[in-house]
This record gives sequence, C-alpha cells and structure tokens, in this order.
Amino acid sequence: MSFQFALIGYPIQHSLSPWIHEQFLKKAGLSGSYSIVEITPDESFEQRLTDLKREHINGFNVTVPYKQKIIPYLDDLDVEARRIGAVNTVVSRNGRWIGYNTDGKGYTRSLKQHYPAVFADKDIKIAIIGAGGAARGIYDALVTAGFHYVDIANRTVSSAEAITELQQDQTNTAVLSLAGLGNKLDHYDVIIQTTSVGMKPNQDKSIIQLAPSLKKDSVVSDIIYQPITTEFLKQAKNRGAYTHYGHTMLLYQAQYAFELWTMKHVPIDDMENQLQQILE
Ligand code: ATR
Repeated sequence: MSFQFALIGYPIQHSLSPWIHEQFLKKAGLSGSYSIVEITPDESFEQRLTDLKREHINGFNVTVPYKQKIIPYLDDLDVEARRIGAVNTVVSRNGRWIGYNTDGKGYTRSLKQHYPAVFADKDIKIAIIGAGGAARGIYDALVTAGFHYVDIANRTVSSAEAITELQQDQTNTAVLSLAGLGNKLDHYDVIIQTTSVGMKPNQDKSIIQLAPSLKKDSVVSDIIYQPITTEFLKQAKNRGAYTHYGHTMLLYQAQYAFELWTMKHVPIDDMENQLQQILE
C-alpha cells in the first residue's frame, strides 16, 4: 500500500511539512507521498475539498487560514479538536473524514522531550502569551496534562478570558494584560510565546521585555520557527533561562499526525538538527 497525504492552506508553497512527512515515511519503511494543495481565497473551498475526497487520500493536514473553516466538512471530530474548535489533522477512515488537533499535544510532547523535569511538578506556574488558535491548543493540552496553574496574557484580554472556558474548573487560571505579565515575570517557571510578534520579517520585535525579572531557571518557549532564534528567545538566553524552540513543536505535531494516519510511531532522532539547518 502507498500512503497519500496532503496539506491544505494558503500560502503553503514553502511549507516544511512535505520534508518532515517524507522523512517519517522513510523511517517507518512505508511508501507514499505528501503533497501541497494550496487553496487560494478566491477559489471554491468546497469544490477543492470535493476534489480531494475523490483522490482517496489517507489523511491531510490543515493550516492557516482553514483550521476552523474545515470543521463543517468533516464527518466527525475528536473530543479535543471539538473543544479547541480547530483542526490541523484529518484522518480518512473508510471515506469518512475525522478531525483532530495535534498542535497542543505536539507542543507538550516536545516540551516533555526537552525538559522532562517540567512534568514532574504539576504545580509549577505557567504563562501563555497570546490567545489565538495555537494558544487555545496549548492551553488545552497543558491543562489536560494535569498542570494546575496555567495563566494567559494577551493584548486583548477578552480573548484570553474566552480560553479559560475551554476546560471546566479552571478557577486557577489568571488572565493578564501584557503589561501585567511583564510586572510579574518572576512568578513563572515556564513562559510560552504563541503570538506572531517577532516572526520574519519583523524579527527584531519581542512581545514583552523579559529582562531583568525573569527567573534564571525558568523555561522559555517560542512557537515561532522563522527565525529559529527569535528576539524573545535571545532575551531569555541572555538572562540565563532554558530555551525551547518552535521548530520542535512543528516536528512533534507532525509526528502525532503521522501516528494517526499510519498507527506507526517514528522517532524524531536527528530531525531537529536537520530542520534547524534548513531553517538557518
Ligand atoms: P494563531 O491562530 O496562529 O495562534 P491568531 O489567531 O491570529 O494566530 O492569534 C494571534 C495572536 O497574536 C493573538 O493573541 C494576538 O493578540 P490579540 O488577540 O490582541 O489580537 C497576538 N498578536 C498579533 N499581533 C500582535 C501585536 N502586534 N501585539 C500584540 N499581540 C499581537
């Protein structure tokens, strides 16, 4: 059997997902391909999905701007994707399309891989910066993993408040403004940057200033991977904090998707270094 996978989104011509999944196929000893299906905003989304369904693919990834738009076209939704309200992975089972979200779980898996000690104490204090789709997935995955104190800071505080409704009994979650977070950085053990601030070509920006109050032994993540070392991570490094890079989340969300499609767990091995070289 030859597996057929795809990515839908726009713009996606420079996506790294084909490279990642072709490596996974090789590692798993499977034959198959992963193609780019770019759907421009002026095309009929519905028609392109009908075409895709006819191709009998085994599964596909969904990226911006279609992670929410895909939902009405699916036959079923995994419980987490339903809660998060966004889908990044679709599995085709006997022609039925089932939607999943592996972004948040991919993030927590990569964090655990790099910093297993973080998972030893579920009472540590975590702050997520941002309240978009990525932040929703990461918040949901961290709370599901058992962390008790996951706060959210965002420019628009009402969007952060909406995230707290994702999980029941999240009375411990504090919602902060960006300035509010800046004033209590020393309170947090893990800080996760999920906004687009600092992404190429605006790579000289950092969403908040981390020095001088950041705890020296804290873990600081940025989910941006272009550039690979953001201004935010540079500040964390200068402060002596532990850093966690965005390309690792990219790899682990893909690893989860590959598992859903093929039922095979493939090791990441040297792929982080290889991806880093591609991105640098
Ligand atoms: P994604 O789905 O990829 O997470 P998104 O839904 O567009 O992206 O969310 C973008 C996040 O980046 C939001 O938290 C947004 O803040 P607002 O909710 O206030 O819009 C944040 N963001 C984007 N540009 C920003 C900027 N210049 N300053 C502060 N926050 C910004």
